[in-house]
Amino acid sequence: PSPRELFVDYPNSEGAELGNDQVYYDTMDQILPFHEEYYEVLCMIAGEAIEPNEGHAIISPVDKRTMGRVHYCDQAILDRCVSFLKSHPLPDEPIEHVCARLERFADLLVQNKHELMYLCMEEAGKTLQNAHDEVREAVDLVRYYARQAQKNFADPSILDSVTGEENLLTYDPRGTVLCISPWNFPLATFIGQVSAALGCGNRIIAKPARQTSIIAYRVMELLLEADIHPEKLFFLPGKGSDIAHGLIHAKQISMVCFTGSISAAKQIQSWLIEYGHGFTPFVAETGGQNIMVADSTALIEQLVQDVVASAFDSSGQRCSALRVLYIQEDIKETFYRQLQGRMALLNIDSPFLRNTDMGPLIDSEAQQSLSNHIDWLQKNAKHIATAPIHSKLPSDNYMAPSAWEIKSLSELTQEHFGPILHVISFKPDELESIIQQVNALNYGLTFGIHSRNQRWINYISHRVGVGNVYINREMIGAKVGAQPFGGHGMSGTGPKAGGPNYVHAFVKEKTLTSNI
Ligand code: ALA
Repeated sequence: PSPRELFVDYPNSEGAELGNDQVYYDTMDQILPFHEEYYEVLCMIAGEAIEPNEGHAIISPVDKRTMGRVHYCDQAILDRCVSFLKSHPLPDEPIEHVCARLERFADLLVQNKHELMYLCMEEAGKTLQNAHDEVREAVDLVRYYARQAQKNFADPSILDSVTGEENLLTYDPRGTVLCISPWNFPLATFIGQVSAALGCGNRIIAKPARQTSIIAYRVMELLLEADIHPEKLFFLPGKGSDIAHGLIHAKQISMVCFTGSISAAKQIQSWLIEYGHGFTPFVAETGGQNIMVADSTALIEQLVQDVVASAFDSSGQRCSALRVLYIQEDIKETFYRQLQGRMALLNIDSPFLRNTDMGPLIDSEAQQSLSNHIDWLQKNAKHIATAPIHSKLPSDNYMAPSAWEIKSLSELTQEHFGPILHVISFKPDELESIIQQVNALNYGLTFGIHSRNQRWINYISHRVGVGNVYINREMIGAKVGAQPFGGHGMSGTGPKAGGPNYVHAFVKEKTLTSNI
């Protein structure tokens, strides 16, 4: 298909125009009434909400306001879920039916976009622009996967008949897909997983991130409203390790689709090997240690803009975010001066305010772990810049973005998931050794190059072992259909989200050979 066909329509231009005062205030008028809501999040078994057990308050990272209550899945609910799965086979439905309902679900997302944007802002701390972009990405993912599933799997593929027999390849759903999603893209990643699974005819058990269960629950309600078969809809908020372990141990899971930490991914994979029902497919998207290299031919103004966006947008809480910039030493001082100037202009504040560029971190745990790293940097690195905090912030979850010069990549032993940029200066003859160090990390998610030297660009992009390379632009914000997203090594298994091969992971192939 041509690139234009791959973009999926989202019917408004508001996103591009949120900088316009009128569009901004009109949008906020639609969003703010949801502030009055009190949300009750329940478990769901076969589309049916389960009467509450003990509830836990849901606290907004923006201002620590209580937004509602979540009733976590306990052992009794898990047992009910397992016994339902054992006694109810997967409903058999033509792909066309499911995909038509997913298109309806996408329409409902658009109709409810202001509430979903509100929840992205209040429950996940996203800025208005990020919240808008997230709803759009979610809608694009649903329509893209539904259309891919329909195109590829509605009919069998007719194969060569070299033997005079009829050979067909048919596509069946895998069965029950456990979808475990993260808080940093609580709508888009959650919806991407469940819509790919449902579009291919599967049943889903969704386990949302603890921090963003309201958004996920609203999505489940909209799936029901779109008439997705209720026996395909399960929702179990709660402790991920208990839920995943319980379901895998009971041999009720046909596939796991996971986005989150490397340690949790390894744990799940080991359970699948130990207790899984056969070789259970596992699709994981995890973390990275994302690098950008800028040589002396880079346009410094553009570099500064793209570095700030890549490292600090969404408060650095994107798996794609820039963590380490290698800068050629000849341009280092000029770059630092311009970076300091640009960072001084950043506004860190409540996402609900007009000029906010960066909202809060997700919770105090994240704040604590990043603050420990800042303490380490204060002792071991050279400070380049820290953005100012201008006003009294509504909670202690906020962190001023900062940039630090370190000596070598080996000083970083883990990913720091927040607004902290590390910089290392290099001489041109060190390029080969940088590539080797980057590849030796065995992460492989995103990589940025800023250069006007095409041979250099070709050489690096060919050698570097990552999933997404971005040249002379920011390294975040992959677009559905156009920039399939996902990494290699410790960063994930593939196939890439938002790409043409993703749905193939969610079906079983069967070859039918008929001697007719
Ligand atoms: N898909 C997200 C991005 O590209 C993580 O930034």
